[in-house]
Amino acid sequence: MSAQKFLENLRLRRSIYALGRDVEMPKEEIIDLIQDVVKESPTAFNSQTQRVVTLFGPAHEKLWDLTAEALKPLTPAEAYPNTLKKIQGFKNSLGTVLFFEDQSVVKGLQEQFSLYADNFPVWSEQASGLTTENVWVALSIAGLGANLQHYNPVIDDAVAKEWNIPADWKLRSQLVFGSVESPAQAKEYIDDADRFKVFGA
Ligand SMILES: Cc1cc2nc3c(=O)[nH]c(=O)nc-3n(C[C@H](O)[C@H](O)[C@H](O)COP(=O)(O)O)c2cc1C
Repeated sequence: MSAQKFLENLRLRRSIYALGRDVEMPKEEIIDLIQDVVKESPTAFNSQTQRVVTLFGPAHEKLWDLTAEALKPLTPAEAYPNTLKKIQGFKNSLGTVLFFEDQSVVKGLQEQFSLYADNFPVWSEQASGLTTENVWVALSIAGLGANLQHYNPVIDDAVAKEWNIPADWKLRSQLVFGSVESPAQAKEYIDDADRFKVFGA
């Protein structure tokens, strides 16, 4: 694949909120793709801190019901119908990938390599971010749309209870995916001059 093709593929990844279930790709292939991408995503010291739960069908719907329930006491009554509408949008999609980071591995590394103790939680977050991005890009190349949500920590307890998630798995993000029902709007970019510097070229 040329670098230009890679860039084209990166551009396929956008935040798509109008998602549906009109997906031809078999679920087994989606699962394999997600899992292989996670495995190929780098982690500090190859610590492989990422833990991933993929939800489809009733499990996916349950996640968004649990989210609606968890948000209810935290949301002003007049704003709650809008919250429910937004949640319904996520529920209408095909599935959700839950990204966790295993804190037992992070703690183990901190104990083993005390010199880097402060870095391991940061590197764990970075690994989670880049893993999420890789999965998001891969799903986009496969023709699916996705958007990234962060209802953690509000939903952490409900999720852990529902799917028997180990206590050390810290929920970091939720990637909602499905068929693209409406494309993303054109994206705006800040000036390159504010972002990039090159010396000695
Ligand atoms: C670290 C991170 C956190 C984000 N959190 C959310 C979120 O909680 N909810 C949401 O709708 N989008 C979230 N996004 C999506 C961004 O808003 C989106 O990527 C950005 O506006 C650029 O649009 P694009 O994804 O179409 O390129 C997040 C993105 C990143 C990288």
